[in-house]
Amino acid sequence: MQPTRSRPLQSLAIASGKGGVGKTNVAVNLSVALARSGRSVMLFDADLGLANADLMLGLRPTRTLHDLVAGRAESLEEILLEGPEGMLLVPSASGIGSMANLTPAEHMGLIRAFSSYDKPLDVLVVDTAAGVQDSVTSFCKAVQNVFVVVCDEPASLTDAYALMKVLHQEHGIRRFRVICNMLRDPESGRRLMQKLTSVCAHYLSDVVLESAAFIPMDDKLRIAVQKRQPVVTLYPGSPSARAFNELAKQMGRWSASDTDMGGIGFFVERLLQTA
Ligand SMILES: Nc1ncnc2c1ncn2[C@@H]1O[C@H](COP(=O)(O)OP(=O)(O)OP(=O)(O)O)[C@@H](O)[C@H]1O
Ligand SMILES: [Mg+2]
Repeated sequence: MQPTRSRPLQSLAIASGKGGVGKTNVAVNLSVALARSGRSVMLFDADLGLANADLMLGLRPTRTLHDLVAGRAESLEEILLEGPEGMLLVPSASGIGSMANLTPAEHMGLIRAFSSYDKPLDVLVVDTAAGVQDSVTSFCKAVQNVFVVVCDEPASLTDAYALMKVLHQEHGIRRFRVICNMLRDPESGRRLMQKLTSVCAHYLSDVVLESAAFIPMDDKLRIAVQKRQPVVTLYPGSPSARAFNELAKQMGRWSASDTDMGGIGFFVERLLQTA
């Protein structure tokens, strides 16, 4: 099935291996920062178990992707929610359990719903769950760019490495954009990057790691989470908000080869094929 439009789309997944390192905050704040810079952004909450992007955006979904799959909603517009700066949220499909167990009819319904979405879309951000299970790897495979969030803890580094190893050896993904989060200072970010780079150079020699962002440890971000607002909206001048804005700006300089010419219809087709 052909999507109704094929403008270049920047598609990216945010993954980490370890839980609680800041994936959803990166996904939410990056989406809002990108929308503020004038791009049309859709955030797909792919944490099928513990979906919480809606909470961090102060939104209350009444319907989710599960309703699309179950046929209770027919178009993507029926489940989309509008968040800060006009960014759009696809609320998680909690209730499905896994994209791997859908029937052919459910597959078709999903592909039809996404392919017929005909509004302009510049960026698709996918927030994934913790772990390296198939539901995470299939989302990473369906996008053009994989961001790996790490923080300065041994378990975060080993889990990020385990994730990249699976994505590389079993799914052929070569390039990862690394986001170092909860940093005490920029120097610890550089050290973290170095550690990850040297482990990868040793054991995964084909893999290319790019340092995408250093996000400081920021109390304002914690307060924003409690207040159910993105830190880029609530405290735009805070250190973490500035880092998210910088990352959004940097994405404007990505090359054409980092974009997805197929649009979100093809994203969902790839997702269902790999699942
Ligand atoms: N830069 C930061 N500064 C301070 N606290 C942070 C920062 N990033 C994340 N946190 C804290 O870590 C918590 C977990 O963040 P978040 O929910 O984004 O992680 P996650 O990786 O999505 O977790 P999960 O694996 O459970 O989905 C946040 O609620 C916040 O309190
Ligand atoms: Mg999360």
